[in-house]
Amino acid sequence: MMKIFLAFYSRSGNTKKVAEAISEILKCDKEEIFDMKNRKGIHGFLSAGTDANLRRLTAIKEIKNNPSLYDMVIIGTPIWSSNISTPIRTYLSLYKEDFKKVAFFCTRLGSDAKKVFTDIKNLSQKTPLALLELTSREVARDQYIQKVKEFTKNLKEGIVK
Ligand SMILES: Cc1cc2nc3c(=O)[nH]c(=O)nc-3n(C[C@H](O)[C@H](O)[C@H](O)COP(=O)(O)O)c2cc1C
Repeated sequence: MMKIFLAFYSRSGNTKKVAEAISEILKCDKEEIFDMKNRKGIHGFLSAGTDANLRRLTAIKEIKNNPSLYDMVIIGTPIWSSNISTPIRTYLSLYKEDFKKVAFFCTRLGSDAKKVFTDIKNLSQKTPLALLELTSREVARDQYIQKVKEFTKNLKEGIVK
């Protein structure tokens, strides 16, 4: 039995909603990453934008799951300033060596996700078995389920290959 783990960060709930839909379909373990830095309000928004843009790292709350115990790790992030969110950049820098197979997803207002996926790929030094990008609009209107299903299907087929 293939063991799958999903790690995600979500500031305002969109990425979390998608993470929940994915983990429900795959029946996989998941863990929310928490930033020790306060990202709430306008100050939090501005610091998030700056930190992401400058590709800084942050301190994240203690991680409970050991990703090396899983055959595949799915990483989910919002896009911040056209970049990987700072907590997920930090998670990748700490745990990338523990990943076997990987898949990525992101939520964003409208930016192209290509650069973010390329960055995650380079940071993790792994080629993802599946990718999923969703706009916050799609998530708000519950128009994401079909794409989520395709993502989980691609991911399972990728594992078999
Ligand atoms: C600091 C900050 C910067 C953002 N920058 C971008 C951006 O460059 N491009 C984009 O399409 N969306 C951007 N967004 C929008 C988020 O990616 C989008 O709302 C996402 O779905 C939020 O996910 P969450 O609810 O899981 O936190 C930004 C949001 C924040 C908070």
